[in-house]
Amino acid sequence: MNIDTFFTDHWKEIEPERITRYEEMFVWHDAQRLLVEGAGIEVGHEVVDLGSGPGFFASGLAQIVGDAGRVHGVDINGDFVDSARSRFSDHDNMTFYHVEDHRLPFDDGQVNRVICKNVLEYVPDLEATLAEVYRVTSPGGRAHVIDSDWGFLVVEPWSTETITEFFKAASPAFREPYIGRRVAGALKNAGFARVQVKLSPFVDQAGRGLHVLRNMASYIEAFDTLPKARVEALLAQVEQSLADNNFLFVLPQFLVTAYKE
Ligand SMILES: C[S@@+](CC[C@H](N)C(=O)[O-])C[C@H]1O[C@@H](n2cnc3c(N)ncnc32)[C@H](O)[C@@H]1O
Repeated sequence: MNIDTFFTDHWKEIEPERITRYEEMFVWHDAQRLLVEGAGIEVGHEVVDLGSGPGFFASGLAQIVGDAGRVHGVDINGDFVDSARSRFSDHDNMTFYHVEDHRLPFDDGQVNRVICKNVLEYVPDLEATLAEVYRVTSPGGRAHVIDSDWGFLVVEPWSTETITEFFKAASPAFREPYIGRRVAGALKNAGFARVQVKLSPFVDQAGRGLHVLRNMASYIEAFDTLPKARVEALLAQVEQSLADNNFLFVLPQFLVTAYKE
């Protein structure tokens, strides 16, 4: 493992158990329509889902554009692309592409919308990626980014200092852990004329956030950036707070819509 490139390498090669876990985590819920409301996707639109993973989110977008539209899922992981192709082979309005880097296999101004959910924190070159997003978006079209920002995380019962300690140890898993606050500026600098930012709350009391923390703990173990006993003690605190009904996990999603003139 190369700790300097882990943030992208761990997506290019994914062990089968992680693929299975992601396929369970990323299923489409109708409530997710709210996350893309700002994109203003219409029936008949041609849409790119950048970082489409197993393709479930793309399938939700395909329902919105209907048979007259088309959704192109794009991902850096070949296994995700293969599984999405076979999973949605009976959907005539969906296609999936494997990409090697930031370059997108579409013509200038080809698509009405580019959607990108929980991907930009991992891209090696944000500027080059958004330049491609801008290039393929049609005049009058929009790019719509949905992303978190680890600086906004609340984990009750942890103190702010503990959260910082834990996420600093896990940070090699991300190219840009604070992407939420930075993406609006990056989109304006890519050429988009106007950029709107909204926040969608993610609030969990039932323990879903604990899966996120356990995932981070597995990264910390691989990076060896905190003693194992410390990580175990922190997770035990969270588990105890869940048992005592005091657990709370809050991680807002930034919904950033960029308009191309
Ligand atoms: C956290 S998952 C999100 C999947 C999906 N967008 C969703 O929210 O259901 C991140 C996805 O981005 C993909 N990815 C990471 N870096 C990428 C890149 N540079 N270009 C395209 N896809 C990338 C990963 O392979 C993975 O499928």
